[in-house]
Amino acid sequence: MCGITGYIGKDPALSFVMQGLQKLEYRGYDSAGVTLVDEEGLSTYKTKGRLSELEKLLEDKDCPQICGIGHTRWATHGVPSQLNSHPHSNQKNTISLVHNGIIENYASLKEALIEKGYSFQSETDTEIVVNLLDDYYYNDTHDLFEALKKTLKGLEGSFALCIVSTIEPDTIYVAKKESPMVLGKTKDASFCASDAPALLAYTKRILPLEDGQIAILKKESIEVFDFDGKKAEEKWIDIPYDIEAAQKGGYDSFMLKEIHEQPTAIKETLRGVLVNKKIIFKELDELNYKWKKINRIYLVACGTAYHACIFASQILQRNIETPISHMPASEFRYGDPYLDRNSLCIFVSQSGETADTMAAMKLAKEKKAKTIAVVNALGSSMTRIADATIYTCAGPEISVASTKAYTTQLTLLTCLSIYLSEKINDVVADEGLLNDLKKLPDYVREMLKEEKTIEELSHLLDKKNDAYFIGRLLDYPTALEGALKLKEISYVHADAYYAGELKHGPIALIEKKTVVIAIASQSEVAQKTISNIEETIARGAEVILITKKDTQADKFRHVIRLREMNDVLYPIVSIVLLQLLAYYTATNKGCDIDKPRNLAKSVTVE
Ligand code: AGP
Repeated sequence: MCGITGYIGKDPALSFVMQGLQKLEYRGYDSAGVTLVDEEGLSTYKTKGRLSELEKLLEDKDCPQICGIGHTRWATHGVPSQLNSHPHSNQKNTISLVHNGIIENYASLKEALIEKGYSFQSETDTEIVVNLLDDYYYNDTHDLFEALKKTLKGLEGSFALCIVSTIEPDTIYVAKKESPMVLGKTKDASFCASDAPALLAYTKRILPLEDGQIAILKKESIEVFDFDGKKAEEKWIDIPYDIEAAQKGGYDSFMLKEIHEQPTAIKETLRGVLVNKKIIFKELDELNYKWKKINRIYLVACGTAYHACIFASQILQRNIETPISHMPASEFRYGDPYLDRNSLCIFVSQSGETADTMAAMKLAKEKKAKTIAVVNALGSSMTRIADATIYTCAGPEISVASTKAYTTQLTLLTCLSIYLSEKINDVVADEGLLNDLKKLPDYVREMLKEEKTIEELSHLLDKKNDAYFIGRLLDYPTALEGALKLKEISYVHADAYYAGELKHGPIALIEKKTVVIAIASQSEVAQKTISNIEETIARGAEVILITKKDTQADKFRHVIRLREMNDVLYPIVSIVLLQLLAYYTATNKGCDIDKPRNLAKSVTVE
């Protein structure tokens, strides 16, 4: 997610703008820039890379301007580059703005502006906005506020905008829809930023803008309106915590914050992909693959992303006769897999930089296989090697333990399986699945309400060094991922087994008070899993059962029931409970949640 800061006051703006961007670095970014404005004009400085690069650019510049805006970019449209970085200005260089979000209808708006004679320097959706503003101001309203209101009415998607101009050099305009924006005020200045941490060194009293609101910031005043220009109520709040806590959005850790971000992350991932009950992947259409000639599909990744591959290979195989397999990248790269130009390899990675997955992708390319990447970090290395990349839109994931990246991978892979089933096998998408996909953010939000229950259940693991996760079919990758989460942050040894495999050996491990977490969400086998689990209860196990509404589970003390939905989506919802279980177990044990021992966020070495 991008970072935005803005200042209008009695002092030079640059110092607030830059310190604010530093406080927002945790949001992740690949380029940065500022625009400073006074009666003389607009001065924009921007660069690819870290804030330190921007500081170098500004080193020998004299910047007394008392009005300015800044931006750190997490690329969504257009790879990281100087040209694509914000702020973006109109050709006259009289208006400059920064943006956080995605303008969904930017293509049609761009076309209309080009017809009017506008040209574009960047590949971004943001540049459309500043040119729209230019068009409305100079060719219609000759009033910036009126021009802004007209501009906003034409935008679809999400945006937090911060605008400065030589037209009104003492004013910053701010507008918000779905992307965050907070305001602050002291007696000599007004501020805006994407998030509270940027303001806390100046004020702890902030005004979070609401969707559909415009704010006009001047040195001595802030006024808030709705998009129609009607005065809006201002709900100021006092931030009770310090900067570090603010970066975590008030949560105790980035992991807990990211667990709670999942409904939004899934919604953003579906945006532009699930449109009016259709799955759209323009990036894949443009490949013009001969889809029906594909003779095998491999899904390849590491760690959590590999568990997503196991999930995806199962749902793909249900609709496609072609042989489909999944493999850890570290095995794939040395396993000499059979590949030819009709093989399709799908690589999944949050960072897009994992060494084993990169090497596996290069092997696939050498063997002339088709390669699709499923990645979170736009512009990362894998996206520059794959034939095409489709993006999860989880935003930066700071915690080493992957949570929102996983659920957005499962979401996007579900969409990809619908797309491939139709392309390869003419399978018509299941209407019920599409309807439930649309509601998925709400289903995950509902699951988060079980947090208190999970926190209580986590004490079953207080004095335990082992835990067993079991599941069948699509519940098996969930069991694997739940075990991995528990291992990597609480250091409790955890294993995952196919439920039907228990009696072939692992049940020897079960004794009195052994903790077993069972996931039984798949209709055709849920009751079978439950009877497997009853065998462990007979041996004294403490069982936490996660199952659907209609299963018989009267022998169980700890049951969490999942609302009715298409079976394919249960893994995306049930894993939230296991993320929380790992989180609270690790918290109870006093472990470092965001930086667990021995682990790195992106394993860029073999
Ligand atoms: C999972 O919580 C870990 N962070 C780790 O297994 C991770 O999923 C794996 O290293 C793959 O990383 P990637 O998705 O960035 O390729």
